[in-house]
Amino acid sequence: MPGTDLRLLPARAVHAQAVARLVRLAMPEHQHARWDAARIARRIRSPNCALVLAAAGRYLAGAAVLDLLSEQAQIALLAVHPQYRRLGIGSALLGWMEATASTAGLFTLQLKLEASNGAGRAFCFAHHFHERGRLPAFYADGTAAVRLVRDLRVNSEPA
Ligand SMILES: CC(C)(COP(=O)(O)OP(=O)(O)OC[C@H]1O[C@@H](n2cnc3c(N)ncnc32)[C@H](O)[C@@H]1OP(=O)(O)O)[C@@H](O)C(=O)NCCC(=O)NCCS
Repeated sequence: MPGTDLRLLPARAVHAQAVARLVRLAMPEHQHARWDAARIARRIRSPNCALVLAAAGRYLAGAAVLDLLSEQAQIALLAVHPQYRRLGIGSALLGWMEATASTAGLFTLQLKLEASNGAGRAFCFAHHFHERGRLPAFYADGTAAVRLVRDLRVNSEPA
């Protein structure tokens, strides 16, 4: 329940079904369809990918998938259960992904978001992401995406 202590922990193969259930609750159908348990299990096994869970007591409150690419890190998934929103869980998952990307020597964090996702955009802007382009008809149903980027360097201002 909200208010319970939050723990972040790495996902294991046994968690794939629970993460797929969470994604179904947290995201609209045209977004969650591609995150089935088989795909999540592949991401958990992948050495180029980090999947983190947010547990509130016994409940799975959130999950995130970070892809470690050659020049940048990409947030492939960030989802918080609707009953656990605005409690800082998305921010905690993002903080974990930022630390993981930096540790891997990657200082650019990006994600693609449905252009009409107002909550997602507000969350990203609150965390200093900047919009870097629009991708028309990016998703299978023809909707547009925006690319959002965050520079993770401690002092990213020009000298
Ligand atoms: C976007 C999402 C991950 C945010 O998770 P969350 O745990 O509720 O986020 P936090 O509590 O850490 O919010 C941090 C800040 O982001 C901003 N924010 C988050 N949700 C917001 C909303 N619905 N409207 C406006 N601002 C919002 C606020 O500034 C908030 O701080 P505040 O609560 O002190 O005002 C969650 O809404 C979600 O899972 N949405 C569906 C999946 C999705 O869109 N994924 C893409 C994520 S970028």
